[in-house]
Amino acid sequence: MPSLRLLQLWAVAQALPVPLELHYTAEGQRSEATGYRPVHGGQWPLAVFLHGTRRAHNDAFGVEACRYLAESGFAALSLQYTNKAYPGGCSDFDHRSRQVGEGLRQICDRQDLGINCALGVAVVGFSLGGQIALKLRNFNANVSAALSIAGSLLFEGQCLMNHDFKLERSKRRITVGSEDRHYGSRIKCVSSSGYDCGSNNCIQPDGSGFYMFTEDEVGRTPSHNYYIDPLTQGMAEDFKLSDAPWGFAACVRWLLGDPSLPNASNRQPGSARLTGQKGPLLLEVKSPKARAEDPGPLDVEDLEDRDFGREARAPMFRAGANSQSQARDAEVELVKDNSAAIGDEQAADAAE
Ligand SMILES: *[C@@H]1O[C@H](CO)[C@@H](O)[C@H](O)[C@H]1NC(C)=O
Ligand SMILES: *[C@@H]1O[C@H](CO)[C@@H](O)[C@H](O)[C@H]1NC(C)=O
Repeated sequence: MPSLRLLQLWAVAQALPVPLELHYTAEGQRSEATGYRPVHGGQWPLAVFLHGTRRAHNDAFGVEACRYLAESGFAALSLQYTNKAYPGGCSDFDHRSRQVGEGLRQICDRQDLGINCALGVAVVGFSLGGQIALKLRNFNANVSAALSIAGSLLFEGQCLMNHDFKLERSKRRITVGSEDRHYGSRIKCVSSSGYDCGSNNCIQPDGSGFYMFTEDEVGRTPSHNYYIDPLTQGMAEDFKLSDAPWGFAACVRWLLGDPSLPNASNRQPGSARLTGQKGPLLLEVKSPKARAEDPGPLDVEDLEDRDFGREARAPMFRAGANSQSQARDAEVELVKDNSAAIGDEQAADAAE
């Protein structure tokens, strides 16, 4: 006969997260938020999932992401938002961020769900959702960590990359494939993360930063669709369960502040109290002299001062020009760029 204790453990393991479904109204639109909360306890930190362009918030990927996050101890909601097409410029991007930020506020304000945003709000996004995630703190001060899956920011000098991240870099993490034609560029990862390690592995001791993985590491083409299982449209198992730095499992452990990280005192990016300390890495203020000697990981503010050589002249940097028309051209390129990405996704989906 199994012991009572074993039976209890079995019961806990069998207990599936509890579905959540609610609505929010923001920017004149009523939207859904669906996901799960853990079975036990209460007063959970919140994880928000934001899907990519044209993907339904509650498709298999969105559902699995939320279930995994709920099994990890978050109340997790995938927010529907205006994502039928890639944003046509800065005001459009901001409009969507305001929409999501307001939805988040309404969720945080509810007393009946057992969600406690003061324990932390992690924003996890794929593609466009990942881009919004990195900047959502600018629209809602409750955001305490961002995990961007294949969603580095593209352009210098305009809304998507104008160096005004309210969320400090020690709370931002990016995972992206080297064959992602749109987001898999080291310079984009450097701009979006605020760290430059001179390598594709730029995960910091505290788990923030970026990891751009290659085919050698994952055993198949690390394209924009690497994360998605072509049959189920859910999360690809090797991504979901991988403890390698690019894997979802490892990234969620970072959100939770895994004590096995090299510096355990830097714990809990996702579940740190909002009024709490900043990540130690950010507080490390160097004298200008020390800085000159050791460029170290850089703050985004430093980027303009750095010579990135050839890569710095890549198209996204052209948007850094002050002239309005150049910025507009860049936006147009951005839209084209992403339409192409979506075309690719669909072609890839159809081919599988
Ligand atoms: C932040 O969360 C608190 C609850 O912890 C809530 O009262 C407040 O309205 C939220 N603010 C925003 C901007 O979401
Ligand atoms: C670890 O955290 C402590 C306290 O925040 C800090 O002083 C120290 O520099 C950190 N070490 C590393 C390797 O990040």
